[in-house]
Amino acid sequence: MATTTPHSETTARVINAPTPKRVLIANAKGGSGKTTIATNLSSFFAARDEHCALIDFDPQGSAIQWLQLRQSNRSKIHGVSAFKKSTTQVTRTWYLRNLPAETTKVVIDTPAGLTGMLLNDLVRECDYIVIPVTPSPIDIRATTFFIKELFLTPAFRTNPRRIAVVANRVRKNTLVYSKLELFLKSLKIPFIASFRDTQFYIRASEYGLGIHDLNNAHKSDVTDWQKLVDWIDTH
Ligand SMILES: Nc1ncnc2c1ncn2[C@@H]1O[C@H](COP(=O)(O)OP(=O)(O)OP(=O)(O)O)[C@@H](O)[C@H]1O
Ligand SMILES: [Mg+2]
Repeated sequence: MATTTPHSETTARVINAPTPKRVLIANAKGGSGKTTIATNLSSFFAARDEHCALIDFDPQGSAIQWLQLRQSNRSKIHGVSAFKKSTTQVTRTWYLRNLPAETTKVVIDTPAGLTGMLLNDLVRECDYIVIPVTPSPIDIRATTFFIKELFLTPAFRTNPRRIAVVANRVRKNTLVYSKLELFLKSLKIPFIASFRDTQFYIRASEYGLGIHDLNNAHKSDVTDWQKLVDWIDTH
């Protein structure tokens, strides 16, 4: 795993380098699945030979810890511990503008309680915002407040980003999921995919993998992930 520093020579962007698509995974509600979505999305991109950078803005460092568990024979993901500011001269979002030149996808994991200046800075530096929501009345309420704040950030108001919601830890055919579906469909935001509640996520995360990397991955889970990836590919 590489950790970008302000003095790293690998960070210079070159003329004709691809413009990376930057995907912010955010919800101020803790435990909605931000890190799970960020790590699975990164490994999905890496599995198809994209140069993916995974930027961790959460001081808990869970995304970077996941990356440290990944074996060296796996497709590479460039990790950045953006929560560690190495010098006072570096702004929080410096890391997003100084990635290896060949980077084609950037996935940004964010902490619970994301609000204010950091939210605004991250919105300014991304192209897509993916909001994971779990089926629970508390999470639905918290997500409503988060979406309101997101829409009111100066960065979003001046330049609205592509935004989508995904349902996470879903058990279909439950009342609480029907309520979540109703809520997500009522938003004027695309509802892209539902990821089921399964231990496969926990098993994969022990090895720095995504769920689709597992030999016994369910086809339907891979199809669900493909929906999110297709949305990013085609927008
Ligand atoms: N689809 C899923 N199926 C089963 N377990 C899941 C799923 N998604 C997330 N989890 C588990 O739920 C817990 C919370 O998920 P995760 O850490 O991704 O949330 P988070 O939003 O990043 O939390 P935090 O706000 O604390 O950073 C973790 O233990 C994770 O393994
Ligand atoms: Mg997290």
